[in-house]
Amino acid sequence: MTPTEEPDGPWKMPLAEAMTTQRAIRRLLADPVDDDLVLELLRLATRAPSAENHQNWDFIVVRDPAVKHQLARLNRQAWSVAKRIARRKVRSDWRMEGVIDAIQWQADHFEETPVVIVACLRGMRLSRLVRVGAASYYGSIFPAVQNLLLAARAAGLGATLTTMPLWSTGLARRTLGLPADVTPCAVIPIGWPRGHHGPTTRRPVEEVVHLDRYGERAFLPRHHH
Ligand SMILES: Cc1cc2nc3c(=O)[nH]c(=O)nc-3n(C[C@H](O)[C@H](O)[C@H](O)COP(=O)(O)O)c2cc1C
Repeated sequence: MTPTEEPDGPWKMPLAEAMTTQRAIRRLLADPVDDDLVLELLRLATRAPSAENHQNWDFIVVRDPAVKHQLARLNRQAWSVAKRIARRKVRSDWRMEGVIDAIQWQADHFEETPVVIVACLRGMRLSRLVRVGAASYYGSIFPAVQNLLLAARAAGLGATLTTMPLWSTGLARRTLGLPADVTPCAVIPIGWPRGHHGPTTRRPVEEVVHLDRYGERAFLPRHHH
């Protein structure tokens, strides 16, 4: 499906609908995704907040098959380790099986992904010095990443927030030619989906909300008390 086939054009989807149906779409078609559309996704991504409005983000749009292949290799390497842990989880959560199949599919077909976006942050991570640093550091990139995922959803594109290709950060840096002060934070393969978006499985909000102090589950329905 192309954005023009969406009922109301690519950016007219109600926000709540985009939020509730945005999910990891790992099975993608090899069909091309235009540069204009990719740039529009990134335009919306970069409307996000960042600490002190530094906007110290950089986005690499990967189209070169050689670079894609390297990212694919790094993803497969990380997955070969993570898969063993994930398989163990299947025993306690049967839903994991579908996720594992999807991650495997993506690992096997990574090179065919039409476009891969790598979200990066410029500047040093302060968390080495102060603990609050990690939150403000990564907090300056993931709002933009989520904007990107929501924009992709609204356009009918499939996308996944991934970090596995970055587990060997040094190799990822070399692959992308990143300077020492630019840190890759997320790798987002994007393409037209083979399947469908949403609905997602999430814990009920009442279960994760506390009133004033931790443990005060004021929003849980009565029968849960
Ligand atoms: C920090 C972070 C890292 C993630 N890394 C990966 C990854 O390396 N590979 C992958 O396939 N999915 C990755 N995901 C996607 C999650 O597995 C996915 O969002 C979650 O299972 C919920 O799936 P759903 O959105 O389809 O419901 C990552 C998500 C987050 C937030």
